[in-house]
Parts: sequence; structure tokens; C-alpha cells
Amino acid sequence: MKIVNTPEEVRKQVALWKKEGFSVGLVPTMGFLHEGHGSLIKKASEENDKVVVSVFVNPIQFGPSEDLASYPRDLKHDTELVSECGGDMIFSPSPSDMYCEDFCSFVDVENLTSGLCGAKRPGHFRGVCTVVTKLFNIVQPERAYFGQKDAQQLAVIKRMVRDLNVPVTIVPCPIVREADGLAKSSRNTYLSSEERKAAVILNKSLKKGLAALTSGERNAEVVKNIIKDTLNSEPLAKIDYVEIVDSSALAPVTNINSSILTAIAVYIGKTRLIDNFTFNL
Ligand code: PAJ
Repeated sequence: MKIVNTPEEVRKQVALWKKEGFSVGLVPTMGFLHEGHGSLIKKASEENDKVVVSVFVNPIQFGPSEDLASYPRDLKHDTELVSECGGDMIFSPSPSDMYCEDFCSFVDVENLTSGLCGAKRPGHFRGVCTVVTKLFNIVQPERAYFGQKDAQQLAVIKRMVRDLNVPVTIVPCPIVREADGLAKSSRNTYLSSEERKAAVILNKSLKKGLAALTSGERNAEVVKNIIKDTLNSEPLAKIDYVEIVDSSALAPVTNINSSILTAIAVYIGKTRLIDNFTFNL
């Protein structure tokens, strides 16, 4: 398993692989890998001859008051997990390998980024789309793997690839959860043991919302209130948003009569966690 730091080294290796006729899959990550990332890497290695996993805490997708400096990092553990899951190369650049001093080119996807996390984290998706475009250009994969855990990110990347004719197939992967239902996340590591217990409320509240939908409720406000009331029953939880949106345009819906995404962001103490489910009519 190779670890490389510069775009040039990646290009060189990928060119050799392509010369041999190998297909290449890419799994973009910010590291501190867990089984959620592992599921993407495993799927990529089933579907491609070679798999590149990028490990890069991308500074331009963090806001000034966000957790860039404290974002957890453990390249040794990441290397073990990538190799166990069938990855062939880790691309782990430094910020200066990715962004030269006078860097000034960005990729912006409009509309889909105006709500949900986009509304709460200005500039976040511009940073995500820019780094993902760079990774696509550096690795030139046939396929790239993204988790449903970050449902808005997945929708935005799919739209970017469609709109800009990027020659890559986006492969969505289901959310991997802890035994008690909490979605696995690198940020779960910030939680104290009390907060960790409280964090199950995210999944619990979504399950209640889903139960209402499956029993025929079609009023989005009613479903959102069921979710909000459940979240508010946990004293350590503070709602950032609870939204029900159309799953492709990500526009808010009032009556549920198409495929929808129910997405939530909740602070447990100081840690902001997200979760979601899709409901297809
Ligand atoms: P990161 O948060 O490290 O996530 C990398 C990929 O793993 C994303 O596609 C995310 O949706 C997926 N993932 C995380 N937790 C998951 C879980 N519990 N189940 C399934 N998939 C999960 O998302 C990013 O990094 C960055 O924004 C990135 C795309 C790498 C750009 O910097």
C-alpha cells in the first residue's frame, strides 16, 4: 500500500495503472477513518482494479469558527484501515501541495447549496466542490464513492458532475451506523461519554419521523415537529436545523408527494452532528 503526498506522484502511478488497463476508483476522505469510510473503500475495491483513498483535511471547506485545527487525524490507523479494506494507495497531501499561495479558482454549485448545511456553513460546499474537482483531476478515476451520510454533499457532487460533464461515475453508499443507531462519524470522537449516550437522539428522532411517514402522514410540518419534539426531549441536544426537502433539487416541501430527504443537524454539547433519511414515494 503506497502513501503519496503530491499530485505528481499520484498522476505517475495512475498513469502506470491505466497503461496496464486497470480501472481506478477514488474515495475522497478527510481521514480519521472508521467503518463508514471502510464501506466506501470496500465497495470501491469490489468495483475497480485499483483504489485511491485521499486523506486530506481540506482547509477551504471549514468556516473561521469551525474545527479545522482540532479535526482528528491518525494517518497510521487510516493506513491500516485502507489496506484492510482493499485500498491500493493513500493520497495524503499537505495544504500547500493542494493550494499554492496565489490559488484563486473555485467551483460553485448554486441553488442546491443554499439550504440545509449550506445555509449554516457559508462557503462550505464551494470548498468541497473545489477540492473534489481537484481530486478528480489529479486521480482521474472512473468511479468515485460518496456516503449518503452527507446527503447534501452527495446531491451537490452529483449535480456538479452532471453540469460540468466531469467524466466520473458517482457511486452513492448507504449510511453505516453504530449498534445503537448513531451514524458513524469522525466527529463522534469529540463526544464525552454522557454526550455519546445523548447522541442516539438523532437517529431516534428520524425513526419517529419515518414512522409517521410510513403510516401515511404527508404534511411536512407535522413530520418535522415530531422530529423536533423528540430532539427537544434530550437536554444535551440543540437543534441546528430539521428540514424536509425534495431529494433532487433539495428545495423545501410542504406536502410530501415525491421522493424526499429528511435531514437534521443537531449540536450535542459543542459537537455538531448530522443525519438523514430518504423516503421514496
Ligand atoms: P469525510 O467526512 O471524511 O467523509 C468521507 C466520505 O465518507 C464521505 O463521502 C462521507 O459521506 C462518507 N461517510 C462518512 N461517514 C459515513 C457513514 N457513517 N456511513 C457512510 N459513509 C460515510 O465528506 C468529506 O470527508 C469531505 O467533505 C470530502 C468529500 C472528503 C471533501 O473534503
